[in-house]
Amino acid sequence: MRVLGLETSCDETGVAIFDSDAGLLAHALYSQVALHAEFGGVVPELASRDHVRKMLPLVRQVFDEAGLSAADIDAVAFTQGPGLAGALMVGACGGRALAYGWGVPAIGVHHMEGHLLAPMLEADRPEFPFIALLVSGGHTQLVRVEGIGQYKMLGESLDDAAGEAFDKAAKMLELGYPGGPALARLADRGNLDRFTFPRPMVNRPGLDFSFSGLKTFTLNTIADCRGDGELSETDRADIAAAFQRAVVETLVIKCTRALEQEGLNRLVIAGGVSANSMLRAQLATRLEKLGGRVFYPRPAFCTDNGAMIAYAGCCRLLAGEFEPLGVKVRPRWPMDQLAAVGNAQE
Ligand code: KG4
Ligand code: ZN
Repeated sequence: MRVLGLETSCDETGVAIFDSDAGLLAHALYSQVALHAEFGGVVPELASRDHVRKMLPLVRQVFDEAGLSAADIDAVAFTQGPGLAGALMVGACGGRALAYGWGVPAIGVHHMEGHLLAPMLEADRPEFPFIALLVSGGHTQLVRVEGIGQYKMLGESLDDAAGEAFDKAAKMLELGYPGGPALARLADRGNLDRFTFPRPMVNRPGLDFSFSGLKTFTLNTIADCRGDGELSETDRADIAAAFQRAVVETLVIKCTRALEQEGLNRLVIAGGVSANSMLRAQLATRLEKLGGRVFYPRPAFCTDNGAMIAYAGCCRLLAGEFEPLGVKVRPRWPMDQLAAVGNAQE
């Protein structure tokens, strides 16, 4: 089965073609970062309009790349939620319409299930069951995954998501939007021993997260360093390093706790923050000590992309699911309400 996948939930237009026999055939991405940068964050209406402009040209691009045409597509998968309502509508309406026009089924995909399954696009993929750490701009979740659609939520952020915390700290350090990757680059030049930031909630039992206190700590540290003047380049790098270390170590502690609690030693990390190299390195070391393994998507599939949507859609289509003709999006959509899939895509 060959599936065209469309991702339009936020500020990236992602399109891909996944073939259940041959794997990923083509993918293309357009990032709206430059469009939103001057506003310091995503402007939903601008995002929707840009998805309208970019989606179909990207569909043509992946067809060209794969040497395929509409007649070769067996189904269309689009992100149904969670995400920005208007942005989701572009992929949902476009995907539904293309599928209708081509006479093939359409399927609405849960964006976080897409992230969670992204490591399955790699040659080195985990077997079920495993623990997944989903860390994106909107979510921080620890999930026990028994199979596709069989998700037990073990813990999540009570306030800011990890990516959101990165973005807010980056803004305080005047690194622009989206700040996560820029903060990570700056942190690599910083002195890890100068400041010690708190590791929120690690001394309490349980697997929930809270990152909003770190934000205040960062703000206070910046104010202390600045005094009446400006932050030096060294101050900024040292604060970035301490912030990144606190977030990464908190995530590592909670992942270890989840693995021990559930008696598992396979960990998947996915979502934008899983591109963070310090997080990847520390989790790899920790899992090695636990006699286990960490699995993650290639960096391009950590952040939003069409490939993960095509893949997750393909798994559900093969299990017999498809959408009715109406167009529906779900800006808020708890992942543990998804139906279990009997035959996982091998
Ligand atoms: O998964 P994603 O592309 O979009 C959502 O579904 O939210 O995640 C985007 C988030 C942003 O907050 C971004 O700053 C963060 O992932 N991010 C990073 C890195 N790359 C992306 N955070 C820390 N280090 C990175 N290298
Ligand atoms: Zn995402």
